[in-house]
This record gives sequence, C-alpha cells and structure tokens, in this order.
Amino acid sequence: MVIFVGWLEGKTAVITGGASGVGKAIVHRFVHEGANVCVLDISKEKLQLLDSEYGKKVISIRGDARNFKDNRAAVSLAVETFGKLDTLVLNAGIFDGFKKFADLSPEVIEAAYNEILDINVKGYLLGVKAALPELIKNNGTIVFTVSGASFYPDGGGVLYTASKHAELGLMRQMAFELAPDIRVNGVALGGTMTELGVAPSLRPYYTAPTADDRKISISNRNPLKMFMEPEDHVASYVLLASDQSKAITGEIISSDGGLGVRGLS
Ligand SMILES: NC(=O)c1ccc[n+]([C@@H]2O[C@H](COP(=O)([O-])OP(=O)(O)OC[C@H]3O[C@@H](n4cnc5c(N)ncnc54)[C@H](O)[C@@H]3O)[C@@H](O)[C@H]2O)c1
Repeated sequence: MVIFVGWLEGKTAVITGGASGVGKAIVHRFVHEGANVCVLDISKEKLQLLDSEYGKKVISIRGDARNFKDNRAAVSLAVETFGKLDTLVLNAGIFDGFKKFADLSPEVIEAAYNEILDINVKGYLLGVKAALPELIKNNGTIVFTVSGASFYPDGGGVLYTASKHAELGLMRQMAFELAPDIRVNGVALGGTMTELGVAPSLRPYYTAPTADDRKISISNRNPLKMFMEPEDHVASYVLLASDQSKAITGEIISSDGGLGVRGLS
C-alpha cells in the first residue's frame, strides 16, 4: 500500500537503468510522488515499452552508462525538458552469475572484469561527474543502488562483490567530498525478483535458476525469510531523494530482509 504521496513534488530525477526491474519500479514511484523523470538505459526494447507506459512526466534516452557523453546527454535532456535536475539515481548494473573464482580462467577474468566493473563502477563515477554541475545548483541528492554484496560474501562471485563493494566506497567518499552541497546515500538491495543481466563473457557458464528456485534460495538466506520484489525497495529511494532526509548523507538503507542480523548460525 502506498502511504505517502507528493514527497518529490516538483523535483526532476535522472535514473540510470530505469527501463526494467528495480529502476523501473523507482521510476513508477517517483512519478507517483510528483517527480519528473529522465531514464538512461541501454535497452531499446525496454525503453520503447517504458515510453508507451508513461506520458510527459517520463522521458528516456538510449545510452550506455559506461560513457560520459551518454550520461551527459541524459542530464542535458532532463534539464532541457524539465528545467533542472534535483536527483540522480545510479542503478544500471550487471551481475557475474555467482561464478566462483577458482572456476574463472585468466582470460575470462580479464574480459568479465572490464564488463562488470565498467558498468557497475565506472558507470556510477561518470554518472555523478555528468550530473554534478546541475545537482550543485539545487542542493541535489544522489542515491546509489548497492547490494548485500556491498557488505557480505556470496551475494555474487568475486567480480560482482568487488564491484558492489567499490560502489559503497564511492558513495561514502562522494558524500564526504560533495557535502555540504549534495547529499549522497544508497539503498542496499537483497535478492530481488528481476532479470538482472549477466556479463556477456560469463553467460556461457551461467544457467539461470527458475523463478521458484530463486524465491526459495533468497528466502532461505535472510532472517525475514522473504524474497523481494522491486516495489519493496522504492520507498527508501523516495526518502533519500526527498527533503524529508535533509540531515542524512553517506548512509545506506539496507533493504534486504535483515542480512545484517543473520547471526553466527
Ligand atoms: N536483482 C537483485 O537481486 C539485485 C540485488 C542487489 C542489487 N541489485 C542491483 O540493482 C540494480 C538494478 O538491477 P535489476 O535487478 O533491477 O536488474 P535489471 O536488469 O532489470 O535492471 C538493470 C537495467 O540496467 C540497464 N543497463 C545494463 N547495462 C547498462 C548500461 N551499460 N548502460 C545503461 N543501462 C544499462 C538494463 O538494460 C536494465 O534496464 C543493479 O545495480 C543491481 O546490481 C540487484
């Protein structure tokens, strides 16, 4: 049930990876809360679907979060269309399919490292770089999508875990450097029912679990015994993007079923 409305009234957000999964749920809720949204995503098909579902409050641009110029184009489009930028949500990401380190050849490590770290880490860095001049004008906010894998082992394999730990470090350092102008926070997701893509060079080794198997495996790993849907996380993004969290920077909201209180057993 939606319990607050209008928390983002009059605000403009750029959301990377907003054409599916968690990103799309954030788009939906941000619009509900009164925001205008510009989505940067690499998938033409998903963007076409998104465009058909929303009116003037959502615009989109096809681009690659790994490139500064595509991030810059998204920011420019948002400002040209809506007049300003208040919030950047960094969310575009890919996964390593839980590939174990011992099973990775050096060649696959080289290829998959570039694929995963470029999107998950460089994409976040360049997203902030592109948005910074506009965010500074409005005392804006940045919200990182991070993960249980930003804190604990076995939320992925070594490459995904390294990338999500790196995102956490970026978030903290940016919160330090960009204060007092910009607040920077993150939402750490637990296992969520999306079709998070696997890095191209790891796909030959990856067999996607069925949705039912995934629900069981996610539920078995957290104290609340739940699998998460994208919608379960979006209120945390609204809070961190809104003026209701004016005193919060450099923090993570863990939206993961309680991974931090699993205990020793
Ligand atoms: N699903 C989970 O269990 C889970 C858990 C923890 C964290 N996360 C994180 O949540 C975020 C969103 O993932 P999701 O689960 O919603 O998956 P998803 O695949 O549905 O969403 C990711 C989106 O990013 C886009 N994208 C991928 N590469 C891109 C690029 N180079 N440039 C621009 N867009 C690109 C995809 O097209 C897609 O729309 C990711 O950062 C992921 O690491 C997911």
